[in-house]
Amino acid sequence: GMTPKIAPSMLSSDFANLASEAQRMLHFGADWLHMDIMDGHFVPNLTIGAPVIESLRKHTKAYLDCHLMVTNPLDYVEPLAKAGASGFTFHVETSKDNWKELIQRIKSHGMIPGVALKPGTPVGEVYPLVEAENPVEMVLVMTVEPGFGGQKFMAETMDKVRILRKKYPSLDIEVDGGLGPSTIDVAASAGANCIVAGSSVFGAPEPAQVISLLRSSVEK
Ligand code: DX5
Ligand code: ZN
Repeated sequence: GMTPKIAPSMLSSDFANLASEAQRMLHFGADWLHMDIMDGHFVPNLTIGAPVIESLRKHTKAYLDCHLMVTNPLDYVEPLAKAGASGFTFHVETSKDNWKELIQRIKSHGMIPGVALKPGTPVGEVYPLVEAENPVEMVLVMTVEPGFGGQKFMAETMDKVRILRKKYPSLDIEVDGGLGPSTIDVAASAGANCIVAGSSVFGAPEPAQVISLLRSSVEK
């Protein structure tokens, strides 16, 4: 497979101890830290924003993989760049009219652009963004309805991963939601190489074992 990126979702961490939770995950072998930014509008939950990213950035040099579950992602580009975000993945459902401007601004602010799609969104909606002159560098296929950790993996979303992998052999494809030891092989064999995992990692007695299991499944 491609280079695995294992990204614990900090949504499942103890937010009151975010820096030590992040350092613990990196020590356990995490490649990225997945940061779920929600606005209580695009999804029915409210989490963190640029001020928290800025605080965390003071404690780690890690790649902060920011997933924007917000109605107006353009408003977050400058604040998140200033805060020290690394990746900026917006939802295609929010950005039908302005994705070109979004990608351009994400890049000009020094971040890596990605596009996410909800389980009900057809995969074809991201093709123009991957094939653009100024393209996204990652597609995030949501494997649960966005908004909450701890939900059940939706296996039917794997058709989208297979289609994307066939069409774009070297694209970074991320999966997010319900990933863990019992679902990773399905996702990895479909072609996902960036793996977000919240409850399965933070809920494990030995998170390092789960992280290494996720990695070896992608490497198979
Ligand atoms: C859901 C978030 C996910 C979530 C994953 O809206 O995008 O990143 O934290 O959590 P698990 O792995 O528990 O499904
Ligand atoms: Zn996420």
